[in-house]
Amino acid sequence: MESLQGKTAVVTGAGSGMGRAFAERFARAGMNVVLADVEAPKLDEAVAAIVATGAEAIGVITDVTDGAAVDRLRDAAIERFGRVHVLCNNAGVAGTGPSGGKFVTEAEWRWVLDVNLWGVIHGHRAFLPHLVEHGDGHIVNTASMAGHFPGHSAYTASKWAVVGITEGLFHDPQLRAAGVGVSCLCPGWVNTAIADSARNRPEWAAPTLGVERTPMEEMMEAYVRDQLRSGMDPAAVAELVHDAILTNRFWVFTDMQMVEGLRPRFEAVLAAENPPTMGFGD
Ligand SMILES: NC(=O)c1ccc[n+]([C@@H]2O[C@H](COP(=O)([O-])OP(=O)(O)OC[C@H]3O[C@@H](n4cnc5c(N)ncnc54)[C@H](O)[C@@H]3O)[C@@H](O)[C@H]2O)c1
Repeated sequence: MESLQGKTAVVTGAGSGMGRAFAERFARAGMNVVLADVEAPKLDEAVAAIVATGAEAIGVITDVTDGAAVDRLRDAAIERFGRVHVLCNNAGVAGTGPSGGKFVTEAEWRWVLDVNLWGVIHGHRAFLPHLVEHGDGHIVNTASMAGHFPGHSAYTASKWAVVGITEGLFHDPQLRAAGVGVSCLCPGWVNTAIADSARNRPEWAAPTLGVERTPMEEMMEAYVRDQLRSGMDPAAVAELVHDAILTNRFWVFTDMQMVEGLRPRFEAVLAAENPPTMGFGD
């Protein structure tokens, strides 16, 4: 896209963290912004802060796991602003991983895949025809560096899938012909509330009661929280996303040292060797 001024962006997961920062950055660029989230108070707060700057913004309570709700989000955006130019499929949850040394439960697989993968799928299904029909648009899918590093977790599975379908979308002839760009955001550590994703965990996906976490799991969680706290400011990520849309850049990485950490894996794949040991964030 050559300019954002006067155009419209829809951002999911916009009540907090990176999504809120994207919405604020787009508003500063002169865009109308539609913020979507499941957390009503956070959503209201984020919308009010943007409206207070004089920008046009609305909030639409949306659970991205629900296809009909994502359809309603699209309809609300079109009704208010006429058309949508930028879609950020950003809502996501971390899950808690194994508990008590057990493998990940079925409920956790379903919840995390529902939000992180199905949320993106619903976003594509609901918005792509509209974006293609009008042209001059851009889709940003929030994956993660976890979408490049191997791991036996629902989060890893969801993010590898998002990287794969986003890269596939980049080559889609219909989007190309319509002038709709695609970016895949793969952040390293960013200082957000992602470690507290369980706040949005539905009851059916509640972890098994009475399972105690192992000392190793406690240590891992403390490490993750520490990394997140000292992670990048979401506003800096929003700046990268804003620039990627204007320059039509596909990969949006926030930590090139992490990207460099992928080299042993690619080399092993090319040599058809067994996977090397590699830690996310090494
Ligand atoms: N923080 C990091 O270090 C990091 C790194 C890589 C990728 N990510 C990804 O970035 C994205 C944004 O997360 P964040 O880090 O800003 O965390 P965050 O928790 O601050 O924001 C996530 C937002 O998604 C919303 N959400 C959760 N479930 C939802 C649902 N079913 N429907 C609609 N909204 C829902 C939450 O309410 C929240 O506002 C996620 O996709 C996450 O996986 C985060």
